[in-house]
Amino acid sequence: MSTIVSPNPQLDSLVRYRSVRSRTLALCDPLTPEDMMVQSTPEASPAKWHLAHTAWFFESFVLGEFLPGYRLFNPDFPSLFNSYYLSFSAFPEKRLRSSFSRPGLEEVLRYRQHVDEAVELLLESSNPAPEALRRIELGLNHEEQHQELLLTDILNAFFVNPLRPVYLAEEQETKAGSAEVEGLRFQAFPGGMHEIGHSGPGFSYDNELPRHHVWLEPYSLASRLVTCGEYAAFIADGGYRRHELWLSDGWDAVGRNGWQAPLYWTSDNGNWSLFTLRGEQPLDRMASAPVSHVSFFEADAYARWAGCRLATEFEWEAAAQSQPLTGNLLDSGRLLPVPAAQLGQDENPVQQMIGDCWEWTASAYLGYPGYKALPGALGEYNGKFMSGTMVLRGGSCVTPAAHIRSSYRNFFAPETRWQFSGIRLAM
Ligand SMILES: [Fe+2]
Repeated sequence: MSTIVSPNPQLDSLVRYRSVRSRTLALCDPLTPEDMMVQSTPEASPAKWHLAHTAWFFESFVLGEFLPGYRLFNPDFPSLFNSYYLSFSAFPEKRLRSSFSRPGLEEVLRYRQHVDEAVELLLESSNPAPEALRRIELGLNHEEQHQELLLTDILNAFFVNPLRPVYLAEEQETKAGSAEVEGLRFQAFPGGMHEIGHSGPGFSYDNELPRHHVWLEPYSLASRLVTCGEYAAFIADGGYRRHELWLSDGWDAVGRNGWQAPLYWTSDNGNWSLFTLRGEQPLDRMASAPVSHVSFFEADAYARWAGCRLATEFEWEAAAQSQPLTGNLLDSGRLLPVPAAQLGQDENPVQQMIGDCWEWTASAYLGYPGYKALPGALGEYNGKFMSGTMVLRGGSCVTPAAHIRSSYRNFFAPETRWQFSGIRLAM
């Protein structure tokens, strides 16, 4: 986490605090209290838990330490809503989160309000500690991560429900997934020494540091993400039946999970439909939109089938450093990946680097040379997951715009499919 620089960091923090916290509630507007209790896959959490846990983060890492006289809302909550911080307290098994019928939603909302009033009191105080401001900014970035998780988790919950509820009705601008896109081109990038990692005064996670040098050979990246139509050709060509296309662990995952298509694709006599936050979409209408909800193994197999490979995270970041930080992110309101041509980025040699889908890279998630986790319990935020996960870059259609940057490193186990994760080819 780097230093915050602002003429009035308290006021900046207060405005941003209110904005981020209110957006989390707004994302729950289309949900019923019953929707907010569902935990449909082990990776997911109920929306009500996300609401409580994001308040817990401020209570546990900011208020107890930096607001004199702070009174806990409920003495059971510090352990009840702890996710995985072993240094902080014991915590319930993740799979039990959907059993928390108590506290009820109203009490969780009062918990949020209690925490909000305390954080705002701290931000309005005469001289909050710089470390308190840094922790609040970390808490806001944490909450933005949970906003994305809340939506990915609801998409899974609604897909598992036989009624297939629609999170948000389709709007005119989302109805263009079948628009024409340009054929895939490859853009060359120079090799040589590149600087990788966060720089500048803004926020970053500890895993984006230290900035360091990486040597790259010359490489090329595809001009856009792989589309659903292109991925359907891989399926039709027996992609899921040809072991020679798959890594050994990937081929095992295909057999163990019965994969025949990306998550949320269903077939009715060979006619594919895709379930989205905007409801069920026939493949024809999504053919030009980026394929999403594929695992690292599927991305890798597709790349091999296409005669290409996935980029390393360093190749991706070196290319992204010259790109604008704009794209189809949560702020667009679309809530699903859209075709490249619609984004008005035609002049860019590579489109969709930011937004639409997280891009699986060929890089294992490891600490950079000289990496140091944050001190104390917050050191568990990122560092302890540096085993068995792969890096994804670029954000998705449900990532808040304020949350993404070229040095941002997301990471998931290679079988993970419930995130908005897609494919960019490299050579
Ligand atoms: Fe969390």
